[in-house]
Amino acid sequence: MGAFAIAATTFVVLSLLQQLHAGHEEKVERDETVKGSDYCDLFHGSWVYDESYPLYESSNCPFIEKQFDCQMNGRPDKEYLKYRWQPTACNLPRFNGEDLLSRMSGKSIMFVGDSLSLNQWQSLTCMLHTAVPHAKYTIKTVEGLSTFKFSEYNTKVMFSRNAFLVDIVSMPIGRVLELDSIEGSKLWKGADVLIFNTWHWWLHTGRKQPWDFIEDGNHTQPDMDRLVAYEKALNTWAKWVDTNVDIPSKTSVFFQGVSPDHMNSNDWGEPNAKNCAGQTKPISGGNYPGGKHPAELVVEKVLRSMSKPVYLLNVTTLSQLRKDGHPSVFGHGGHRDMDCSHWCLPGVPDTWNELLYAALIQS
Ligand SMILES: *[C@@H]1O[C@H](CO)[C@@H](O)[C@H](O)[C@H]1NC(C)=O
Ligand SMILES: *[C@@H]1O[C@H](CO)[C@@H](O)[C@H](O)[C@H]1NC(C)=O
Repeated sequence: MGAFAIAATTFVVLSLLQQLHAGHEEKVERDETVKGSDYCDLFHGSWVYDESYPLYESSNCPFIEKQFDCQMNGRPDKEYLKYRWQPTACNLPRFNGEDLLSRMSGKSIMFVGDSLSLNQWQSLTCMLHTAVPHAKYTIKTVEGLSTFKFSEYNTKVMFSRNAFLVDIVSMPIGRVLELDSIEGSKLWKGADVLIFNTWHWWLHTGRKQPWDFIEDGNHTQPDMDRLVAYEKALNTWAKWVDTNVDIPSKTSVFFQGVSPDHMNSNDWGEPNAKNCAGQTKPISGGNYPGGKHPAELVVEKVLRSMSKPVYLLNVTTLSQLRKDGHPSVFGHGGHRDMDCSHWCLPGVPDTWNELLYAALIQS
């Protein structure tokens, strides 16, 4: 009787394991065939340690800006270089720089936004240069537009510095941030892939605030709720995209997503840490204790209201988990700045580009 019970139990356990195992195999197979399709949310996952990372060494990227080159600036730990983003339901395709350059032959990729766009642009140019180290390249910057060109492929990877996307205009009363004017867009027409980003500058006050008044419709005022202003500006941008950009037949449009900073360690439940300084490990799992970023909610709302399909590079949560990814004091090299906004390179923006690549090859 007793022996029978044990045997029966063992049988049940075994068959459950077999089912689980079979289910697992089936899932893996399916994931590989539909990799990157709608069914898999590439942005839902966690960071895993991977010896084969990083994707490049900063020493092999001769044009990398000093502010992102944390190792060169003396950052002592290296573990932060070794994390790979693992989506829960499938695998990211391996980044293939040569493949991307061939696909983009005769075409241009343009990042438009603030220094977080610069961060991602630099990451992508480092990743591409590492893939084809002998291919000739030129870098030219004219009036806030940087062009990295691979002449053999006739591919341009550009960065247009534009912190607000909408315009700041000099007037007799001072510098006016015009929430419904987007003349800067003249520069964006003609790019084949556009990746937009704006957020960080919306919070600046005092000396770092580059405008004196905000013009909202017919009202010009010294200031207003910044999140409301942000939403109005994004709506101006959305209207411009909806009326002027031929998606998807001519142009692919991405929104880079809100890049979170780690200035306040209460956000991730470690009040004694203060900020990102000394952080050497990501948050494990897929949830950020601090919850959704307020600007992220605005971005989602505006994108939902659009008639054209803009692809959200939904990098906010995955970047929130990387409290270890910022330069902290190893950014500007020599300065005493605490940088918990930008990201070391190699680092988190490489993942943003792996996700961009995944999106580009699936379309
Ligand atoms: C972005 O990703 C996070 C984490 O997976 C998720 O909670 C959020 O809903 C996503 N946003 C959109 C618009 O898909
Ligand atoms: C702004 O002013 C113009 C001209 O005075 C007027 O036609 C328009 O309706 C006003 N717009 C708003 C939003 O008040």
